Amino acid sequence: SKVLFAACELGVFDLLAEAPEPLDLATVVARLGTSSHGTELLLDTCASLKLLNVETRGGREGTLYQNTELSSTYLARVSPTSQSNMLLYMAGTTYRCWGHLAKAVREGKNQYLQVFGVPSEELFSAIYRSEEEQLQFMRGLQEVWSITGQRVLTAFDLSQFPLICDLGGGSGALAKECLSLYPECKVTIFDIPEVVRMARKHFPSSEDERIGFHQGDFFKDPLPEADLYILARILHDWTDEKCSRLLQKLQHTCKPGGGILVIESLLDEDRQGPLTTQLYSLNMLVQTEGQERTPTQYHRLISSAGFRSFQFKKTGAIYDAIFA
Ligand SMILES: C[S@@+](CC[C@H](N)C(=O)[O-])C[C@H]1O[C@@H](n2cnc3c(N)ncnc32)[C@H](O)[C@@H]1O
Repeated sequence: SKVLFAACELGVFDLLAEAPEPLDLATVVARLGTSSHGTELLLDTCASLKLLNVETRGGREGTLYQNTELSSTYLARVSPTSQSNMLLYMAGTTYRCWGHLAKAVREGKNQYLQVFGVPSEELFSAIYRSEEEQLQFMRGLQEVWSITGQRVLTAFDLSQFPLICDLGGGSGALAKECLSLYPECKVTIFDIPEVVRMARKHFPSSEDERIGFHQGDFFKDPLPEADLYILARILHDWTDEKCSRLLQKLQHTCKPGGGILVIESLLDEDRQGPLTTQLYSLNMLVQTEGQERTPTQYHRLISSAGFRSFQFKKTGAIYDAIFA
């Protein structure tokens, strides 16, 4: 991962995306201001990882580099489906937590104290330990919805729900995807005050008049009225006990006929895959209080909170959908 992260941090994919033609090593070195030796090693390794295409025309000087289709689509900032902010977040924060994976496994808890000197009891105060860090996290989180938002939002017909509340909806990127599918609905984003403030200041989704913000703590404060509550990547942050508490509160807030749409990456019932979800679950171990879960685990949590008509759909993308 560090090869990918370093190439992102140095702007390799951005430089190559902007260049009208493949570039040689000397040009890349001159534009990035990096060492010739280090850059050559990095670019050639990126090529072996299929992140770059290399063309060799007569010796080292004639070697030319360009982005692969994968890099142009997901790594260059100019691409509308770029995941570059998430990769920068992973490079800075996630990677450092993974450096203590063995300790996390030994202790069964996240590594914020070890890595950043902040106690893990208040999970999101640790995650949002500076404005810069918070902004990077918010920018990173929203990117995946440009590639999987429509898949998770069309897994079930949501047209019967005119008023939607996206709990822990962050910057409003998923809300925007929702409005592009259901233009008649209204979405309230509920998140903690610091996130609402940053969303209004830095993210254009906040300017859509069909999107409203409501600040509060979903464990402590009353929740806004809605026909459907979306919980995207919320339950995976928390212990079973906290998930149950939140779901029970939601069940009391929901009107009859109301629903919840839980968006998470689902583990296979025997927990032997998918590998991406297993890795996400280890990521939850090193960074949060939660884990990824199987459909049966979600069914238990959601139905014991009083919700009925539990259904789930594997979308074939990274994230799946549960409706109840
Ligand atoms: C992992 S992020 C998911 C963001 C978004 N739903 C998505 O999938 O892109 C968790 C979100 O929950 C919010 N959050 C955490 N604790 C909260 C609380 N107690 N009350 C309200 N929102 C909270 C965070 O600020 C963050 O936006």
